[in-house]
Amino acid sequence: MEASYLTPKEIVEELDKYVIGQFDAKRNVAIALRNRWRRMSVKGEIRSEIIPNNILMIGATGVGKTEIARRLAKLADAPIIKVEASKFTEVGYVGRDVESMVRDLVAQSVNMVKSRKEEEVKERATQAVEEIILDALIPPIRNNGMNPPAHSTEAVSTTVPNTDYELNERTRNAFREKIRKGELEDRKIEINVKPHGGGNIGMVGAGMMDEVSMMNLQDMISNMMPKKAKRRKVSIGEARKILFEEEAAKLIDMDDVKDEAVRKAEEAGIIFIDEIDKIASGEKKGGGPDVSREGVQRDLLPIVEGTTVNTKFGVVKTDHVLFIAAGAFHISKPSDLIPELQGRFPIRVELSKLSKSDFVRILTEPKNALTKQYQALFEAEGVEVTFDDDAIDEIASMAFEVNSEVENIGARRLHTVMSKLLNEFLFDVPDKIKANSKIAIDRAMVKEKLTGLLKNKDLSEYIL
Ligand SMILES: Nc1ncnc2c1ncn2[C@@H]1O[C@H](COP(=O)(O)OP(=O)(O)OP(=O)(O)O)[C@@H](O)[C@H]1O
Ligand SMILES: [Mg+2]
Repeated sequence: MEASYLTPKEIVEELDKYVIGQFDAKRNVAIALRNRWRRMSVKGEIRSEIIPNNILMIGATGVGKTEIARRLAKLADAPIIKVEASKFTEVGYVGRDVESMVRDLVAQSVNMVKSRKEEEVKERATQAVEEIILDALIPPIRNNGMNPPAHSTEAVSTTVPNTDYELNERTRNAFREKIRKGELEDRKIEINVKPHGGGNIGMVGAGMMDEVSMMNLQDMISNMMPKKAKRRKVSIGEARKILFEEEAAKLIDMDDVKDEAVRKAEEAGIIFIDEIDKIASGEKKGGGPDVSREGVQRDLLPIVEGTTVNTKFGVVKTDHVLFIAAGAFHISKPSDLIPELQGRFPIRVELSKLSKSDFVRILTEPKNALTKQYQALFEAEGVEVTFDDDAIDEIASMAFEVNSEVENIGARRLHTVMSKLLNEFLFDVPDKIKANSKIAIDRAMVKEKLTGLLKNKDLSEYIL
C-alpha cells in the first residue's frame, strides 16, 4: 500500500486504527501528505512555487501528538524523521545544530532508496550469494580427477556418472537444492569478509558526528584503512546475510542512490519537530537560557523557510520539505515563539483533551491497545486475560479522575493505571498462576486493586 497514493480520507482511516479522536489534526496531516503527491503531478513553473503548508499541532501532554507523527511515518512512503526541538543548541555552541535534522533526513532517505534498490537486485544478489556458498561447500572441480568430498555421495543419483566433472556438477546441484531449502543453515563454511565499509551509511546519526567536515574526515580515514578481506568461519545462514550485503552493493550504484535520495528528501521529506514549546521563551526577555532558545528558533527560520544544507550525500534544498511541529504549550504559548517562526507554521491544529469515553476507546480499539498488549504478554505464558466492559469503564474513569485531581497526563495515565492493576498478576505468573489458567478482570477487581490508591491523594500522586 503506497501511502503517497492514499487519499486524505484513506490516510485518516489508517491513522484511526491507532489514534482515537483528534480528527482535526489527522485531517490536516492527511491533506498535507496528499499535497506532496499532488504537487509532484503539477506541470510547469508553478510546481516549484507551491510550498508546503507547515503544521503546528498544539495539545496537552499525552493526547496523541507524537503518536500521530509516529503513525504517519509508517504510513508515508517518504523520508520522515522526528526530532526534539529541545535537543538542539544554537550554532556555535556545543551540541546538535539544527542543520543536523536535514542531514538526518537525507540519511534516512538514502536508507530508503538503498533498501528499495536492494529489493530490485535481490534476485541477482541472492543467486550470486548461492554460488559463493556453494563454491565454499563443494568447490567446482579442477580438470584433473580429484575425488569429490566423501559426504556428497548420498546426494548423487543412481546412474553412475561418467566423469569426475559430472559427478561434481551433480553433487553441486544436489547441494544447491539443499541450500535453497535452507537445510544446511547451521553448517559452517569459510568465506571472505570485507571489513565494514562500502558506503558508510551506517555511520550517520552516530551521536556527536554533527559537522559535515567531521563526517567527511571520518570517511577519509575509513577509506584510507586497508580494505583487505578476512577469512571467517561462519554458518551458512550468517554467510547469507553478510554476502548479500556485499553482493547487493556491487549491483547498486551508490551515486545514483545518493542523487535519488537527495531529490526524494527535497521533494517528499517530512521533518516532525516535537516539543517545540520547549524552545519558546515563557516570559519575555527572561535572560539566561531564553537567549539560546531564541537562538535555536532563529537557526530554525532559514531551514523551515528554505535554504541549502551541506550533507555528505550532497547539497539539500529545504524549500519543499514539510515541517510539522508539535508542542503542549503548557507554560508558553505559540505566540511566545518569535513571530517569524510562527508565520512559518500557517496551519494550526488543536488536539482536544481526552474524555473518559475516549479512554474507553483507547483502551480497547487501537491495534496496539493496552489491553491487547497485556493480553499478548499473558498469552506468552499460556494465561488468558479478559477485561469485561465494566472493568474497562472503571479503569477509564479512574484514569480520568486521577488526571483531573493530580495532573493531566492524558492517555499516558492509562499506562500507569494498567500496570498497577496488573502488577500482581504479572508477578505471579507463572509461579502461582500456572499456564492454562484464566484471569477475568471485572469492575470489582479494578476497584479492589486501585481504590485504595485513588482515595489517598498522596499515594496516587506517586504511584498512579
Ligand atoms: N488519541 C489517542 N488515541 C490513542 N492513543 C493515544 C491517544 N493519545 C495518546 N495516546 C497514547 O498515549 C501515549 C502518549 O501519547 P503521545 O506520545 O502521542 O503524547 P503527546 O501528545 O506527544 O504528549 P507530549 O506533549 O507529552 O509529548 C501513547 O502511548 C499513545 O499511544
Ligand atoms: Mg510527544
